[in-house]
Amino acid sequence: MSRLRSAVQNGRRAGLEMAATPKRKKSKTVVKDEETTDASSRSSYHTFSEAADVVGFRTQLLNWYDKEKRELPWRTMAITESDVNIRIYAVWVSEIMLQQTQVVTVINYYNKWMKKWPTVQKLAAATLEEVNQMWAGLGYYSRGRRLHEGAQKVVSELKGRMPRTVDGLLKQLPGVGRYTAAAVGSIALEQVTGAVDGNVIRVLCRVRAIGADSTSPTVTEALWSLANMLVDPERPGDFNQAMMELGAQVCTPRAPSCGQCPVQSHCRSYHKVHVKQEQNSQKLLGKPDRKTPVLNDIEDCMDSGTCLLCPSEPWDDGLGVQNFPRKPAKKPRRVERMLSCVVARSGENGDQYLLVQRPNKGLLAGLWEFPSILLREENYSAKHKTTLCDGINQIMATHLTESLLQYVGEVHHIFSHITQSSVVYSVRLKEGDTQARMENAQWLSKSALQEAAMSTGQKKIFKLYDSVDNPKEKGDKGGKKLKQAGMKSNKKLQTSNKHKGSAANSGSRQRSLNAFFRTVKEEN
Ligand code: ADE
Repeated sequence: MSRLRSAVQNGRRAGLEMAATPKRKKSKTVVKDEETTDASSRSSYHTFSEAADVVGFRTQLLNWYDKEKRELPWRTMAITESDVNIRIYAVWVSEIMLQQTQVVTVINYYNKWMKKWPTVQKLAAATLEEVNQMWAGLGYYSRGRRLHEGAQKVVSELKGRMPRTVDGLLKQLPGVGRYTAAAVGSIALEQVTGAVDGNVIRVLCRVRAIGADSTSPTVTEALWSLANMLVDPERPGDFNQAMMELGAQVCTPRAPSCGQCPVQSHCRSYHKVHVKQEQNSQKLLGKPDRKTPVLNDIEDCMDSGTCLLCPSEPWDDGLGVQNFPRKPAKKPRRVERMLSCVVARSGENGDQYLLVQRPNKGLLAGLWEFPSILLREENYSAKHKTTLCDGINQIMATHLTESLLQYVGEVHHIFSHITQSSVVYSVRLKEGDTQARMENAQWLSKSALQEAAMSTGQKKIFKLYDSVDNPKEKGDKGGKKLKQAGMKSNKKLQTSNKHKGSAANSGSRQRSLNAFFRTVKEEN
């Protein structure tokens, strides 16, 4: 049989030309013949031109996934939940939580969330305050807000019926973009579409040696075309999750385990590494370069001078397959300096602390924080205590003076785009001085603080304050726990005790506490 005819026949099997037949429901998502439309059409080097290779890739990947996949609660829901509305809702929640956050971190949050709000109707009936509280510590807080908004929209505008197509998910749910719509559509509804997230970008760039800027529109489109071509029409949800799993477990950003890779035989970068190694050893042995035209055909892009998917920088032998993908250099994070004050008062059942709610828009919208002031660069050296007293006097019907404020220490926190350091002070108010002038202020006990809708940065501030205020509770115990958990002190989050004579100058206790503060990227 000619190569072409066999490719066409296999192509039907591979879903290159046919709309797929989903398991649960017929899908309207047609997988186009991508080869004629995308930027990689000039060279088959960056795509799959043989249908048999597509079939091989799918089979190898899915066989591996069936054996190696992690049991994750949303995966179980996607398989066992027979109510389609709940299934879509459950996968939507998981995909939003998994944006920017690691699987291991998400599991607990997900289980708690689904227990509290098992349906879209239950979530719609919750308050934003409850949602923020549940989300506390997960970072990128606008995600929780959008889920809540989306649930309210589904209930009020769509009669409680979750959208049932990729397009509907994309258009009707706030916070759902191309990737999330495709992931939810394929996992919950078996819609036949590829789904390209960060892990999949890495896998595809390596598999097809795509080395141009992976954030460029050309590469983005090429990756979606590839994903749509490769996705298994019989098991689109599993295929997409297998690609993600491969990126998370095997084809990792650093130190990838190529030896364990189920699709190694399809990987152009892996091949390239071996060809380069062969060439280098030939050179070392003083033999002439044996890079023949045939080898060149197979191992390199034929259009490499002009190809929009080829790297613009030369191959780096030291990086191996990690030559792919390439991203433009990240913008440096903006540096922000804050003043924060833990304001305490004695309550009936122990101390209480003053919290103020952030505005409803912008960074950490609607979350609660200790009274804080963002310092402008020109005010970095302004008198901290005076500035804080003025700020607190605006919140409280009180007339604080600087001498009452105690320096506690410094806390550093990293957001995706900001490095924030907070200089922390504390003050204890007398009874009668504790009436807030503002509505968006509240007093919370220590135990209520643990449950409050506060960002990780604010919780760090309280841990620091608490360690200084209650040294006996901490000390060795904390150190022992840390050692048992195998954690190390994180220099980035050191608590500065440079102010002599301050409460923060408590030596080794302070240092061991530092290790409790994990560096977490957080946003909005
Ligand atoms: N990342 C995004 N979606 C995922 C999923 N369904 N499983 C594992 N990791 C993911």
